[in-house]
Parts: sequence; C-alpha cells; structure tokens
Amino acid sequence: MSDLTKPAVPFSALGRRAKAPTIARLMNAALENPALLSLAAGFTDSATLPLPAVTAAAQRLAVRGDRESLQYGPNQGRPRLRAMMAGHLQRREPALDAGLLSRQLFITNGSQQALYLAMQVLCEPGDIVLVDRPSYFVFLEMLTGMGVEAVSVPVDHDGRVDAAALADRLTALKQAGQSHRIKALYFVSYFSNPSSRSLTVTEKQTLARVLKEQDLIVPVIEDAAYRDLFFASPPEAPSILSLEEWGGFPRLYLSTLTKSFATGLKIGYGCCTDDAWLAAMLHTKGHHDFGSANHLQALLEEVLAGGSLEEQLQIIRPVYARKMQTLHETLVGAGLQKTGWRWTAPAGGLYLWLEAPALLDTGLESGFCRRCIAEGVLYVPGELCFGDDVPRNFVRLSYGVLAERELAEAGRRFVRVAQAAGN
Ligand SMILES: Cc1ncc(COP(=O)(O)O)c(C=O)c1O
Repeated sequence: MSDLTKPAVPFSALGRRAKAPTIARLMNAALENPALLSLAAGFTDSATLPLPAVTAAAQRLAVRGDRESLQYGPNQGRPRLRAMMAGHLQRREPALDAGLLSRQLFITNGSQQALYLAMQVLCEPGDIVLVDRPSYFVFLEMLTGMGVEAVSVPVDHDGRVDAAALADRLTALKQAGQSHRIKALYFVSYFSNPSSRSLTVTEKQTLARVLKEQDLIVPVIEDAAYRDLFFASPPEAPSILSLEEWGGFPRLYLSTLTKSFATGLKIGYGCCTDDAWLAAMLHTKGHHDFGSANHLQALLEEVLAGGSLEEQLQIIRPVYARKMQTLHETLVGAGLQKTGWRWTAPAGGLYLWLEAPALLDTGLESGFCRRCIAEGVLYVPGELCFGDDVPRNFVRLSYGVLAERELAEAGRRFVRVAQAAGN
C-alpha cells in the first residue's frame, strides 16, 4: 500500500500552524558543519562553562547518597532554588522583598518555557501582543505558531521607545475597535536579543504611562535573560517589579541561568505578581511536565550555595567583553562601515546588531545569506526579529560561542561578502 493511500494526520489548528523553528535550523547547521563558523545561534562560551564547580557539586550530591533529588519534585520548583533566585534578584533590586519574590517565583525549563506558559494562558488565536522593536525572534515565531499577531512598539531613529507614535498606534487600534485583542506587552529589557540595547528608566516609565492613558492595564512580561551579562557596570534601570509606574499591572519578570551559568542545565525562572496568572501558568506547567527536572535543580542548589553564580559571572563578563571587542574591531578593521553598515558596540549581552545599507536584502532567502554560507559564515537575518513592518537590512551576529581567532575569521568572511555586495 502506498503512502498516498494513508489518511493524512488530522492536525489541530496549532499543529497545522507549526513550522520548523528557525533557531533549530540555525543550531543544526552549525552543529552539522564544523567548517561553517556560526555567528548565528545564541550559544554561550563553551570554554568557560562551569565544569569544575558543577562536577564537584555533582560529586557532593552523589556522596551524600540522598535519593530525594532523583525523585519527582514540586511543580513550582524546589523551594530552596526559588529562594536563591529570589535572593539573587533582590541583591540587584534591594527594595524588593525576597520572601514575597520566592513565593511568586517558579522554576521552568529555561525561560523559553515560561514564555510559552505565559502566552498559552493569556492568548487565543487572533489576539495581539505588543512587542519591542526589534524583538526576540524565537518569541515572535512562538506567537506566529499560536496564531497571535505581534504589534511593535514604535521606536525613534536611535531605537528608543517613541511615546507619541505608540499612543497613535494604540488610539488607531481603539478607533478600529481592536483594543480588546491586545492581551500583553513583551519586551527584552537588558542587553536585548537582538539589539543589545537596554531600556532606560524613562522608557520603562513611558511605556507604563502610555498604556495607562489608553486604559490598557494588560499583563506585561519583562524578559531579563541577559541582565547579568554586563561588561563593566550593571544596567541602571530597575525592573518592572520595582518601578512604581507598573504598580497596577499584572507583571511577569523572566530570567534564566542558561546564559549566566550553565546553558545545558536549561533552568530558568519567572516571577509573577498576579496570583491568578501565576496559578494558571502553574496549572499549565503541570500539564506540560509537572515540574522541571528535580535533579538539575538540586544540582544548581548545591553549586550555587557556594557562591558559584557570582564567581561564574566574574569569569565570563571579561570574556564576552573581549569577544565582542574582537568581532567589533575585526568588522571595523576590515572596512565594513566604509560600505555603509552601521552598529554600536554594546555594553553587555551576546550580540552585535548591524544595519546594512537600506537596499541590501540580508533575509533568510537572500543572495547575501547564501553567499555568506558559501563563504563559511552564518548569521541571524534581522528580518526574523520584527513583529511587523519588516525591514530586510538588519543582521544579528552572536559572539558567544566562537573562540576569538574564529570570531576574527568569521568577521573577515562576513565583511568580504558585504564588500562584494556593496560593489
Ligand atoms: C531574550 C531571550 N529570552 C529567552 C530566551 C530563552 O532562554 P532559555 O530558555 O535558554 O532560558 C533566550 C534565549 O536565547 C533569549 O535570548
């Protein structure tokens, strides 16, 4: 019997919308072809991953012979790890109450799962989520997969939130009778993926003010995945958890240990100020997995109890600062700016965000992208990072995983293609 005679799998609307995530494609391309230098996926620096600290902690756990951590754990996450993460957050923002934070905090399989939970309990197909511009492309793909529309918060020439344009956009939605579709606001606030910008206090206050003026007290999600990855000094703005202007909003603050500590442990967390929203996400997490891996959480408790997180951050910050500088200087030295490309060297995070000359298409299907792959270098097309009104001339380069020598080589390859495209 041929396959054609088999009935097609009758997928749900979600199953029919599901497309291969671009991030998985980019990660696979890099893993499968070692000759290709990948400036694409946001992998972290492998050489400094905390192997000694994690090995020692695993041995201590094993020697204690306690089987508890090999058993299922609580759905919300281990209380001690939650308290540790609350303490970590409270050290960044001393006005916060660590006890309250740990009650509001839940552990997830990376902050990606928290994002999915948040959207799953808030949105129906056809709803709108307001997003930053540019935004985290995996989140945008998730919205597409859920049938949810992303509407960008307008920004000015320097990428700052444009309050007047935002008010106009929201007013237009109201006049069109569409405001009820807006279910949440999402932004990456510190050393953003992809732009590496941090929102200022004023921008955060402005966002809250404009939403309030429009009577849009919607749930807000602050994604702080890169907050700890500053090079010289921590970003100034406090989170939405302590900014007064956000007081009346249901708030979800997300962070993760994958970027700041051990990527492969894939442990992240959320902190939600709204009891009902938190409960809905926890019920749904119960349906996903009824708790993130208990042993990994126990391992993290063991390793972080000795102060390893701050130690690890002290190790990796100068490494990323040097890597950024290497890639940045390679691009400058090879003459990329002379061909009309623009970017700003970031003060933290994992990415350079490049603007190509307006008419140069750097999209996934573009000749430029194909030529880069032929030249042996991979990047994330900026077109993926916009919820709407998509420009084709941006590029995200990640300097997290490659060694400095490889970064320099990848940068030279990239500039060769850019120069050829400019001629
Ligand atoms: C802005 C942002 N949020 C969330 C995540 C998800 O991270 P993880 O699930 O590894 O914690 C990432 C990963 O790259 C990210 O860049």
